[in-house]
Amino acid sequence: MVDKGALDLSDVGGLSRGELLADPVDLLRQWLDRATAAGVRDANAMSLATCDSEGQPHCRMVLLKQLDANGLGFFTNKNSNKGEQLRANARAAATFWWVEPEARQVRIEGVVRELPEADAQAYFSSRSRLAQLCSAASPQSQVVKDRAELEGLVVALDAQFGDGDISRPAHWGGFALLPERVEFWQERRGRLHDRFQYRLDAGAWRIDRLAP
Ligand SMILES: Cc1cc2nc3c(=O)[nH]c(=O)nc-3n(C[C@H](O)[C@H](O)[C@H](O)COP(=O)(O)O)c2cc1C
Repeated sequence: MVDKGALDLSDVGGLSRGELLADPVDLLRQWLDRATAAGVRDANAMSLATCDSEGQPHCRMVLLKQLDANGLGFFTNKNSNKGEQLRANARAAATFWWVEPEARQVRIEGVVRELPEADAQAYFSSRSRLAQLCSAASPQSQVVKDRAELEGLVVALDAQFGDGDISRPAHWGGFALLPERVEFWQERRGRLHDRFQYRLDAGAWRIDRLAP
C-alpha cells in the first residue's frame, strides 16, 4: 500500500463567486490593470480569432486599445485578412493570458462592429509619426516582394507628406468586439482550476461555474 497522505486541494489565490463583478467588462478591466501593475509586458495583447467564408478560423494577436460599453476596441487595416473576414462574418473570439501575478485567462466571444471614425482618428493621431507612416503605407496581409518594397512604400509616403501631418487612410480604423460570453479562468493546484462563465441571457449576465 502506498501512503497517499491527506488529499490537499487548498492553495492561495483562486477565484471565488464573491470576487465576481456584475459586468464582465469591469472584471476584465480589473484583471488587465492588475497584470499591468505587475509589470507584464503588453498585458493588453489578445489573440483574436475570426472565421473566413469557408469556416476556417484564423488567429492573430492585436492590442486592446479601448474597453467600455461598446466592447473591446482594437485598431487595424480594414483591408487586411481580418478586416475582410469581419466584413463577411461579424463574429470573433479573443483570449488574454497573463502568467503574473496569477496565471489567468480570459476568453471573450461575441459580435464585432466597426468603431466610429472619430475613435480611429483619435487613436491614429496619438501615435508616433513613424507608426502613422508605417501603418498607412503597409498593405497589411498582401504579399510583398521583399523588405525593400515595404521600406520604399514608407519612404514614398514620407516624401508625399513632407513636413505636414500624416493623414489617416480611410482603410485604417477600429473594430470593437461586443461580448456575449466571457470566461474568467484562474489557475489552481492540481489543475483543478476555477472557471466562471458570463453569458448574456435576455439582456442580463448569467454567471455559471464551469468544470476545469
Ligand atoms: C503583440 C502583438 C500585437 C499586435 N497588435 C496588432 C494590432 O493592434 N493591430 C494589428 O493590425 N496588428 C497587430 N499585430 C499584428 C497581427 O498579429 C497580424 O500580424 C496583422 O494584424 C495581420 O493579420 P491578418 O493578416 O490576419 O489581418 C500584433 C502582433 C503582435 C505579436
